[in-house]
Amino acid sequence: MILVTGATGHFGKAAINFLLSKGVPSSGISALVRDASKAEDLSGKGVTLITGDYNDYQSLVKAFSGVDKLLLVSSSDLEARSSQHVNAVKAAKEAGVKHIIYTSFQRKNETNSPIQFISESHLVAESEIKASGLTYTILQNGLYADIIPWFVGEKVFETGIFLPAGQGAAAFTSRLDMAEAAANIVIGSGHENKTYQVATNETNSFAEIANILSEISGKSVGYTAATVPVYTDVLTKAGVPAGYIYMFAGFSEAISQGEFDFTNNDLETLLNRRPTTLKDFLKAVYSAS
Ligand SMILES: NC(=O)c1ccc[n+]([C@@H]2O[C@H](COP(=O)([O-])OP(=O)(O)OC[C@H]3O[C@@H](n4cnc5c(N)ncnc54)[C@H](OP(=O)(O)O)[C@@H]3O)[C@@H](O)[C@H]2O)c1
Repeated sequence: MILVTGATGHFGKAAINFLLSKGVPSSGISALVRDASKAEDLSGKGVTLITGDYNDYQSLVKAFSGVDKLLLVSSSDLEARSSQHVNAVKAAKEAGVKHIIYTSFQRKNETNSPIQFISESHLVAESEIKASGLTYTILQNGLYADIIPWFVGEKVFETGIFLPAGQGAAAFTSRLDMAEAAANIVIGSGHENKTYQVATNETNSFAEIANILSEISGKSVGYTAATVPVYTDVLTKAGVPAGYIYMFAGFSEAISQGEFDFTNNDLETLLNRRPTTLKDFLKAVYSAS
């Protein structure tokens, strides 16, 4: 039995759909959900829904019993997720899961990164997994290309891009590609006790993203590399909540420091095809809106 967590989210749901499209029978797939009404599409396809919560250890032990391969999608709860990930790994161990596959993240800086508030929980999870003795595969997922529209804002074609990301480049990677790679690992072999850099081998700065957006739209999209204080001040005056500003600024600063500036072929190997280029990704996003 395969169990995928975070199945009501983008990554988990996509991974399950890839498993199904690659021929895994729905009777062999379970999905951990907090709210079954958010996963009626999956139950309609024959996937078994199991209710559980990363905060509820016993619910996890119960959900994971009889599971051979567990795709543990990291939690979106930024405050509680270190302990949630520990709960999930301990529960997997207690339930006798045979292979845990965890969605971590790609990084260079493990000690004083501007996104330590994000990275800490992944570092905790990776070390808990390795200490557990479980067979594992760690997916060090690249920065989602899917966050770009969010970072550049809805009015990007009028205002241009304004971010404190300097001239740093990052391997912005399609979330769908990463979900497909995770599904390939779940159904493949030879991935035991391996750590992969699940990211595209193309890096782009926001200046380059501005050029791509100009090309796609036919409008001139510029990029202004702000300082963090100026950025914070401008967004605060525009009424953006402090938590969002902190997160956008932290990621931008990490990008400016080259935190996600990797080129690596793991994703291409796992997909057995070229990953989606950023230009194709952005074309698809902006032609749909
Ligand atoms: N590499 C990157 O750039 C990047 C960017 C964003 C996120 N991430 C990470 O990747 C993960 C997957 O991405 P995504 O786009 O699929 O995120 P998402 O759409 O926000 O999905 C998050 C999933 O986690 C579930 N979840 C949250 N708290 C939970 C809890 N206490 N117990 C059980 N499940 C819980 C959510 O369930 P509900 O539907 O019930 O809320 C949802 O299914 C995120 O959670 C985050 O850790 C990475």
